[in-house]
Amino acid sequence: MPQAVDPAAVQDAAASATTGPVPAEVPPAAVAEAGVLQATAGTADAGVPVQPGVDPSGAGDVVPAAQPAAPQDPAAAQAQQPGAPAPEAPQLQSQPQPHPQPLTPDAVPAPPAAESPEAVEASEPAVLRAPGPQPAENAPDDAGVPAVPAAAQMQPQAADDGDPGAGDRADGPQLQPQVPDAAAAGPAVAPQHPQAHHAEQFLPSGLPGEPHPEQPLGQFVPVEGQVPTSPHLAPTPPQPLVLPLEGPGPDTQVPQSPQVPQVPQGPQEQPEPAATVPAPREGEPAGVPAAPDAEHTPGVVQHAEDLRTRVADQEESTAAMAEARQSAGPAAPGYADAEREAVLRVMRERRDIRNGFRSDPIPHEVLLRVLEAAHTAPSVGHSQPWDFVVIRSAETRRTMHELSMRQREAYAKSLPKGRAKQFKELKIEAILDTPVNIVVTADPTRGGRHTLGRHTQPQMAPYSSALAVENLWLAARAEGLGVGWVSFFDEREMVRALGLPEHLEVVAYLCVGYVDEFPDEPELMQAGWSKRRPLSWVVHEETYGRRALPGEEPHDLLAETVAQIRPLDAKALGEAWERQKRMTKPAGALGMLEIISAQLSGLSRQCPPPIPEPAAVAIFAGDHGVHAQGVTPWPQEVTAQMVANFLGGGAVCNAFAAQVGAEVCVVDVGVVADLPATPGLLPRKIRGGTSDMTTGPAMTREEAKAAIEVGIETARDLVAAGNKALLTGEMGIANTTASAALISVFTGADPAEVTGRGTGINDETLARKTEVVRRALELHQPDPADPIGVLAAIGGFEHAAMVGLLLGGASLRTPVILDGVSAGAAALVARAIAPEVLAACIAGHRSAEPGHVAALNKLGLRPLVDLDLRLGEGTGALLALPLVQSTARAMHEVATFDSAGVTEK
Ligand SMILES: Cc1cc2nc3c(=O)[nH]c(=O)nc-3n(C[C@H](O)[C@H](O)[C@H](O)COP(=O)(O)O)c2cc1C
Repeated sequence: MPQAVDPAAVQDAAASATTGPVPAEVPPAAVAEAGVLQATAGTADAGVPVQPGVDPSGAGDVVPAAQPAAPQDPAAAQAQQPGAPAPEAPQLQSQPQPHPQPLTPDAVPAPPAAESPEAVEASEPAVLRAPGPQPAENAPDDAGVPAVPAAAQMQPQAADDGDPGAGDRADGPQLQPQVPDAAAAGPAVAPQHPQAHHAEQFLPSGLPGEPHPEQPLGQFVPVEGQVPTSPHLAPTPPQPLVLPLEGPGPDTQVPQSPQVPQVPQGPQEQPEPAATVPAPREGEPAGVPAAPDAEHTPGVVQHAEDLRTRVADQEESTAAMAEARQSAGPAAPGYADAEREAVLRVMRERRDIRNGFRSDPIPHEVLLRVLEAAHTAPSVGHSQPWDFVVIRSAETRRTMHELSMRQREAYAKSLPKGRAKQFKELKIEAILDTPVNIVVTADPTRGGRHTLGRHTQPQMAPYSSALAVENLWLAARAEGLGVGWVSFFDEREMVRALGLPEHLEVVAYLCVGYVDEFPDEPELMQAGWSKRRPLSWVVHEETYGRRALPGEEPHDLLAETVAQIRPLDAKALGEAWERQKRMTKPAGALGMLEIISAQLSGLSRQCPPPIPEPAAVAIFAGDHGVHAQGVTPWPQEVTAQMVANFLGGGAVCNAFAAQVGAEVCVVDVGVVADLPATPGLLPRKIRGGTSDMTTGPAMTREEAKAAIEVGIETARDLVAAGNKALLTGEMGIANTTASAALISVFTGADPAEVTGRGTGINDETLARKTEVVRRALELHQPDPADPIGVLAAIGGFEHAAMVGLLLGGASLRTPVILDGVSAGAAALVARAIAPEVLAACIAGHRSAEPGHVAALNKLGLRPLVDLDLRLGEGTGALLALPLVQSTARAMHEVATFDSAGVTEK
């Protein structure tokens, strides 16, 4: 029962959590692990004596996470009844497994659930744990898991053994949670001296004090939930590049000029070309940058299969460069270092300015230089399609201001509430604050009928004018002039209001003036509206999706993402516990929510953590070949029809999202039907539906991986766009069959225990569905140590995409709220790929599907909402969102005993 634990014990334990950078003796680090946190709370709530070794007073040995008073929700209350099945039977990290496990030496000291600040930075072997067949000890199963953090240890044995009560769930709503019996699972005995054990587990030797590895250029550094810090304008070597001169091989016919590359002998011997810049012509300044470090090793492990096209491509381009070098002779020189730096600097420091303008007039000669720069822009066919209308009149500016205000309102109305709140804080124009406004137009008729290039691409006229805008912007920055680009206009309305010739297009409306300062970062980034995308996300080598910065090996998106996933930060966790202790409320009185807020702190490395708002639910839609087996009465077309419904705003998820202010993002990752382009729909179809898993693999490995990448990219997009929480959603008729199969593989439960009624099926269909799952498992014999193989064999495109969303969210230190059974299945796969992914996972709700209970138990996650929902679409996650946001907000806004002058007991 909630009061079973002495609140003082929570305070005591939490207090010790903050002594020292990482409390050597203190379990809070142990409870850092998200899953442990949540599972532990569940254990405490259940009131089941799972910790015989724990001092009943709760003092000292009890980890704070075990102690927060339980929320008084009915389900929890029931679970707390003596003798009732415990919701979960997870083990604390310090507790031995209920059943002795044949642990390998590696497996015994689990990696840190929480990491010390140093550990955060410590370079981990960038190994994708299980993209392909894994050695047996990599199995996500409890036994023999090397490098599996606490998450693995907290796996309830009961779930491993099958969920005894789960199979009954679908028979109708039941108030009694069908959860594994903790007693049956065996008592989770706490060791006599858990502190020592914790210290050992969470301060693995070698972690503190390890040097902070250099962040590879262009990689996302999601520091404190903010922005990537990669330099975007890092100089790249001027072309053409010269390959290294290491003495030509005996066979090569290439002349031995210092600028001639050595032609590689063959793909196998292909050296990484060490690029150098051409020597300057005689008498010209040697203003060339240093060659990049060709030895640079990318931070992620590559798989041969992912690189298979590289050698041939490189051979080709090396040969082309060699040829170019021979014919071209010495290249024209670049700028001297200081000049080049000035050019790069002006690009780096160009800013869109809306705040802090001054009214000082702009001298004519200054404005002339700026316009001259604009007018030297490149343009298609040398058409120079721009005109510049310089506006100074206060009256015209007032008219323009009114037009833009109207459009601002319209835009604000279109936003989800979470976003609209943020938008209200932003200034979007400085039309009245600046002495000069400049309208840049494009004349699509200029240059005559035969303008080169515009014939095929009519939009080249406004593109060319946009280049004039950029030139103007850069030149203005060099003059100390700020420029703000306003696009909140109805373009035709503006043309009329300004009396411009009707055939002109308005490309930009610019506000120009002197400013107090140029901010270091774009204002929208400072305001948390959006984040800068790292260069490494957007550079592709030869083919789209083969991402590589010059001089680097192409990196595998999945491996890179996994390598960036870290456990919770111990320092921030300690601070969170300490803060909760000081907040004006009895310690632990927020129950599970305190644990969630600590998790958010550890995840973001910030205390208090950022409030997870705005939030977006990503609904991945896909169809399933197994539909042919009659596992559901719903026709397959319903998937596409519901996608249309989501996009039209008519589904339950839309109503819930509107209520909680979240954005709905719909992703077609594998719908059979061709979906028309619609605002809000991301077309990312891998294939129109999976194959029938009872006759062959549902997907190829490549397809499964591609679908995971869709999820990773979706997470990146949504986080870069400024979302601070991600929610999983899915739509796919027949997908609970795939979910049940996945859950069966990763929990070891029998298909009968984890196969449910999905959208609502009768006994006969349920029996068939269960048999279908069983047959598929017999056919494929999926190996849980090979999660991508499992996904490919029996998963769905939307499951795979959710795996990617979870991994992507975790890599960006962004919380991901899980929806129902399919999300649970995806989380099991994600955990098998990267155990620390659980640091970012919050179980939004517990669905009525029996498989979901088994999945949550295996994950050690305790759901926030338990309402017998079984809809999917992200609905349960959406309902949980305000709880998660509330707990973070409390960390910001609740007074402390000191600040409020409240007497402590
Ligand atoms: C085409 C274009 C249109 C823009 N329109 C607006 C606008 O209407 N209102 C606004 O406040 N900022 C506008 N901006 C500025 C951007 O929203 C953003 O502040 C800026 O590009 C961020 O980067 P910076 O500070 O490095 O320039 C516009 C920028 C571009 C490139």
